Amino acid sequence: MTDSTNTIKRAVVTGASSGIGQASVRALVGKGWQVVGLARREENLRDLAKELGEGFTYQVCDVTDEDSTRKAVDAVLSEGPVKALVNCAGAAFGKDAVATSNLDDWRGMYELNVLGTLRVIQKFLPALKESEGTVLVVSSTAGIEPYEGGGGYCASKAAERVMARILRLELVSEPVRVVDIAPGLVHTDEFSLKRFGGDSSKADAVYAGVPDPLTADDVAGCVSWALEQPDTVDVDQIVVRPRAEGSYTKLYRKG
Ligand SMILES: NC(=O)c1ccc[n+]([C@@H]2O[C@H](COP(=O)([O-])OP(=O)(O)OC[C@H]3O[C@@H](n4cnc5c(N)ncnc54)[C@H](OP(=O)(O)O)[C@@H]3O)[C@@H](O)[C@H]2O)c1
Repeated sequence: MTDSTNTIKRAVVTGASSGIGQASVRALVGKGWQVVGLARREENLRDLAKELGEGFTYQVCDVTDEDSTRKAVDAVLSEGPVKALVNCAGAAFGKDAVATSNLDDWRGMYELNVLGTLRVIQKFLPALKESEGTVLVVSSTAGIEPYEGGGGYCASKAAERVMARILRLELVSEPVRVVDIAPGLVHTDEFSLKRFGGDSSKADAVYAGVPDPLTADDVAGCVSWALEQPDTVDVDQIVVRPRAEGSYTKLYRKG
């Protein structure tokens, strides 16, 4: 390890335009990191850049698209080394039974949560080896505990977790850390709305009566804490839930 690799503080965060990704950007910039955000919605990224000033830049990027991702990664790497990659881009589509669920929903979740994450990791890995850096994925407890109606999402998040775990094993002799953060229920503005195709009553019902679901900032705190550990300390996995959630099926709701 050289002093210079240890002192680089430049991170890439996918899914930076909302929710956990955006909160992670704020947390990291607050700790003195230079952050590049990746997402499709330029307006949100532009607003974040105005808010955060010189600590934040962005690249518009669709992680399900090879050309778009290649261009974004090349642009990021042309501006300097990268010490950390935080994979937050992800989504759930639908909550239907396996027997009747929509193939396109499953395809969308695999393309984004599994293949999109893989695509971005593969492209940044050589630079992360160079910087003695960290690959971090924000997976989900859905990847640990299957639940009815969660078929496609749980399967995709399980795949994302397994991918991170195997990457960790494969890179054990290399100077790269691999971290998996698996949150339980997080109340972000858009996640459940997107899951239910914009149906706000279904989205609100997810959080109804649950005292203090996690916030995006809670998860961002785990992200920045994990990244701030010494290069030689791999925080392999963090499972983080609201206090009121013992498991997906053991969720306390008031009233
Ligand atoms: N909310 C929860 O309860 C919860 C719990 C556990 C885990 N998670 C995981 O945490 C991550 C973030 O969730 P969140 O709650 O913050 O949801 P969110 O607010 O909907 O954020 C999702 C992010 O992914 C980006 N994204 C979606 N499709 C993309 C694509 N094709 N290319 C690039 N970026 C794309 C979105 O940006 P654009 O639309 O601008 O591209 C957005 O910034 C997801 O992986 C989710 O599975 C969430």
